[in-house]
Amino acid sequence: MQHAFGLAPASASAQAPTAPLVKVLVIPLLFGLAACGGLDDPMTVTSPDGTIAVTVWVDSGQPYYRATVSGADVILPSRLGFTIEDDPDFGKSFAVKGFEHSFFDETWEQVWGEKRFVRNTHNQLRFSLEESEAPHRRLDIVFRVFDDGLGFRYEFPDQDALRDFEISDELTEFALAGDHTSWWIPAYRNNRYEYLYTESSLSEVDTVHTPFTLSTADGLYLSFHEANLTDFPSMTLAHVGGNVLKADLIPWAVGTLAKVTAPHVSPWRTIQIARKAADLITSYLILNLNEPNRIEDTSWITPGKYAGIWWGMHIQTMTWESGPLHGATTENAKRYIDFAAENGFLGVLVEGWNIGWDGDWFNNGNVFSFTEPYSDFDIEEVASYALSKGVRLIGHHETSTGVLNYERQIEDAFDLYDRLGVNAVKTGYVGDRVDGGEPHHGQFMVRHFRRVVELAARKGIMLDVHEPIKDTGIRRTWPNMMTREGARGMEYNAWGSEGGNPPEHTTILAFTRMLSGPFDMTPGIFDHDFETRPDNIVPTTIARQLAYYVVIYSPLQMVADLPENYEGHPAFKFILDVPVDWEDTVVPAAAIGDYVVIARKDRSSDDWYLGAVTDENERTLQLPLTFLDHGRSYAAEIYLDGPDADYRTNQTDVMIEQKTVTRDTVLDVRMAPGGGQAVRLVPEDAS
Ligand code: NOJ
Ligand code: CA
Repeated sequence: MQHAFGLAPASASAQAPTAPLVKVLVIPLLFGLAACGGLDDPMTVTSPDGTIAVTVWVDSGQPYYRATVSGADVILPSRLGFTIEDDPDFGKSFAVKGFEHSFFDETWEQVWGEKRFVRNTHNQLRFSLEESEAPHRRLDIVFRVFDDGLGFRYEFPDQDALRDFEISDELTEFALAGDHTSWWIPAYRNNRYEYLYTESSLSEVDTVHTPFTLSTADGLYLSFHEANLTDFPSMTLAHVGGNVLKADLIPWAVGTLAKVTAPHVSPWRTIQIARKAADLITSYLILNLNEPNRIEDTSWITPGKYAGIWWGMHIQTMTWESGPLHGATTENAKRYIDFAAENGFLGVLVEGWNIGWDGDWFNNGNVFSFTEPYSDFDIEEVASYALSKGVRLIGHHETSTGVLNYERQIEDAFDLYDRLGVNAVKTGYVGDRVDGGEPHHGQFMVRHFRRVVELAARKGIMLDVHEPIKDTGIRRTWPNMMTREGARGMEYNAWGSEGGNPPEHTTILAFTRMLSGPFDMTPGIFDHDFETRPDNIVPTTIARQLAYYVVIYSPLQMVADLPENYEGHPAFKFILDVPVDWEDTVVPAAAIGDYVVIARKDRSSDDWYLGAVTDENERTLQLPLTFLDHGRSYAAEIYLDGPDADYRTNQTDVMIEQKTVTRDTVLDVRMAPGGGQAVRLVPEDAS
């Protein structure tokens, strides 16, 4: 016999709220023996709308699960559990000890984000296991099933027979029901997450990072990831034959996977499920599986745009290291501060300001000082000049993975910035192995990255992390963890040896890396062809660079080009206008690898912004503007590719058109090969 359980939302909370509403409804329903069957029967939990069903059971002492969507298999019977170092008997004789169902419904407010109010409604099943043989160790597996997917995690309860232990394997499988089309980047490579995505069938997939996204022949879109990665190694997915993926945890240098002290919970293993690719982008399942905000006073957390002494180093008109082209000079910093102040930007990032960049900075992580500036950079003067102009210096800590060197100095380094009024720091971890040979994405580094976030929160510092651990939604708990890189960003166009990022890259990122959270890809390059790097161009168009500010969500958004390249350019107005914090996000049109269109409503006005990007193909989309308010007309300011624009040959042909539109308008969105379009929509009744 199979127990099925699912609860529809109560009618009062079934509608998405239009006004601030926070409603929590937790209904624990059953515990222990079910009235209508035994503990050994499979147990099913469904999504609130009833379409997704997850069934869990134990067979020969081992836990298994499967999942269906509208009755069709999505995950075939798949194993769950762990093996433990030097303990071959662990988990060999599990039996179901009890279960508990509950229903949850809440709408919570993001401190900042791509959507202000997020609804979290799900059914939960707690599945409690105990070994039938001594020493009777216990393990709970908790499933949460939402309308947009599911998550499950392992909970090691407090128990004498399992206290300090090491995990030698995670047995979790995802046995997919078909050889689906997949978009992936390989795991265990030196450049971390910085790879171009491969589109292939599942059977050709390697061991991959998450988010890992697939589309099925039945028209479903699936994305695998994890939520709330805390004190555990990062999970990659190994293709273990057929259509089966298995959790593959990044090991410590000594080979063990995870060091655990019970009580402890694993991160959530997540599967986002959508009927349209677009709906993956507006799924907030990962955030919903994270803990609420822990920072009481968030008034110092201020999303914004920033300029920086940065692109010059990548195109080699400046250097990080000392010398005649040193970028981080007092004078240059003041010039950038003036530029930021004139344009109302939040701050100016200055890279290469501190001792340690001379020589081979990629491999000199142990020599960086995070408190001593180069002699031509008067940090006190620069920081106070910035404050006098209403702008902030944005700090920079490149560690080159010299993590022990960084941790030795980090308190002093943050205190220095704090004293100087710096409240945002970009960190960097160039390098593939950390001190002691620890890999970038193992438990050692997960702990490090979190220590830095928590310390930064205490010091009042927002973080922008490059070469990070992947985002698993912890910005909900720690909203000073603003943005991160973790993908091939703009810099690859400056120096990438294989021609930079092809236009298709962004149209895949939107459904993979960007599902995990904000991406500091550093948009806004207007001068696509620089003499100092004759073999490189930025293979986009100006209209596409503008579209990035909408398509790519980041609460700290760089205005990345040299200030002189914006001077007098009419298209710069879009960068000035576009906000970084949103009331709402909709995805009117999208096809993975081909194009993506995102519209977002400003959080502090009724304006909407639209960004569209295409792959290497020219494309015209007929786009209904049905997301606009009823009964209102809007002045549309449209930044579009000119007739000759092309990402290979003419990146700068951009036009600006004005139009009045309503929600009944169908906009012709024409994009050049590798191009895009950016639109600002202001209600005509707005004062
Ligand atoms: C790589 C980062 O992605 C880039 O933004 C930065 O300029 C360099 N490291 C130096 O820290
Ligand atoms: Ca394509």
